[in-house]
Amino acid sequence: MEIERIQLQKHGDNSGMLIALEEERNVPFVIRRVYYIFATKNDVHRGRHAHRHLHQLAVAVRGSVTFLLDDGSGPVEVVLDDPSHGLMLGRMVWRELYDFSDDCVLMVLADQLYDQSDYITDYADFLREVGGSMYPEDMVACQGR
Ligand code: TYD
Repeated sequence: MEIERIQLQKHGDNSGMLIALEEERNVPFVIRRVYYIFATKNDVHRGRHAHRHLHQLAVAVRGSVTFLLDDGSGPVEVVLDDPSHGLMLGRMVWRELYDFSDDCVLMVLADQLYDQSDYITDYADFLREVGGSMYPEDMVACQGR
């Protein structure tokens, strides 16, 4: 589950919609941090890093954004443009974010507090690390969640 799109259950009717995110229910980890990105310029690129240990769930609660994702097997593009779509990002996923709509609000839930030392910001370093032995160990850890 290094990269997975999930459909979030909507509750609602003519009066509006509601989505609940609950730890270890529809969010498959303990939620230790929530942050959100907004007021982005359309031509900016964000991200350009991977995390050694962090798991995250991203939801474009408003607007849209494109993710370029690479778990070492080659890049894929994922567009988030629906508040009922979640994007699960496991550890060791290189991500780049761009094509933010003017109104985009991207909310991210994470299983760790902010820790700069968890970042890999050099793509060549990332490729070296995913080619090593860390990746299979993580897959075992994820399955145990
Ligand atoms: P960064 O992770 O580099 O954002 P992006 O990958 O979207 O470009 O974070 C931008 C700044 O915000 C940086 O100075 C670190 C800070 N920050 C926090 O203080 N706490 C957080 O939880 C996050 C994600 C970032």
